[in-house]
Amino acid sequence: MMQPVNRLKLAPSILTADFARLGDEVRSVESYVDWFHLDVMDGHYVPNLTFGASTVEAVRRSCEVPLHVHLMIENPLRYARTFIEAGAQRVSFHPEVVPDAREVIDHITALGGGVGIAVHPDIDVDVIGPHLQTLDVVLMMTVRPGFGGQPFLHEVLPKIRRAKELVTAAGAEADIEVDGGVNLSTVDEAVDAGAEIVVAGSAVFDGIHPVAAARRMRERLDELEQRGR
Ligand code: DX5
Ligand code: ZN
Repeated sequence: MMQPVNRLKLAPSILTADFARLGDEVRSVESYVDWFHLDVMDGHYVPNLTFGASTVEAVRRSCEVPLHVHLMIENPLRYARTFIEAGAQRVSFHPEVVPDAREVIDHITALGGGVGIAVHPDIDVDVIGPHLQTLDVVLMMTVRPGFGGQPFLHEVLPKIRRAKELVTAAGAEADIEVDGGVNLSTVDEAVDAGAEIVVAGSAVFDGIHPVAAARRMRERLDELEQRGR
């Protein structure tokens, strides 16, 4: 189904989904979502390991929704290609781990992928400044990366506003995506600060009723949209 281009977008993270039935999980919520958000962790940049390109490929085969791979790894330059070949439409990386963020952006772009810079809660948001014209998404983290199910860090809200200002002032088109601890209690604040895409991991794949949870998040985003955000 075609969705309005500018609507607020929902991007469930599969991190807390049931991996034994991942295809069914993603298909079950597909009609409510705009992206799937896939958190790749290497046990170095963050103290946790998740999955690699074969899982991305499995999700790709299971649904029609575009995939955004969030690399929480030390060497995005080495691994970006494998995730794009596995079916990722967008790849985000953390710039503080690389010697030259421009090189990574150019590499992902040359491979045909959309690019995002992920902004860790402890990193200055102005890091995106030099790259705004070439970014598809700015991924503002509202938890310290590593694990799903953490509480939303309200102190990041001014940084989300600043990111939105930087994008607007530059006349750039990057989406503002907010990632971490977003649920029905925190989504309003995230959107009010400038979120255009909201990641929802445990709020959707809560182990109980993912379909009902995705529908409720979708309805809340539609309400915020109708209210003028
Ligand atoms: C954290 C990840 C997030 C997270 C989202 O390292 O980047 O995408 O899994 O999950 P919730 O919504 O449960 O915080
Ligand atoms: Zn993420």
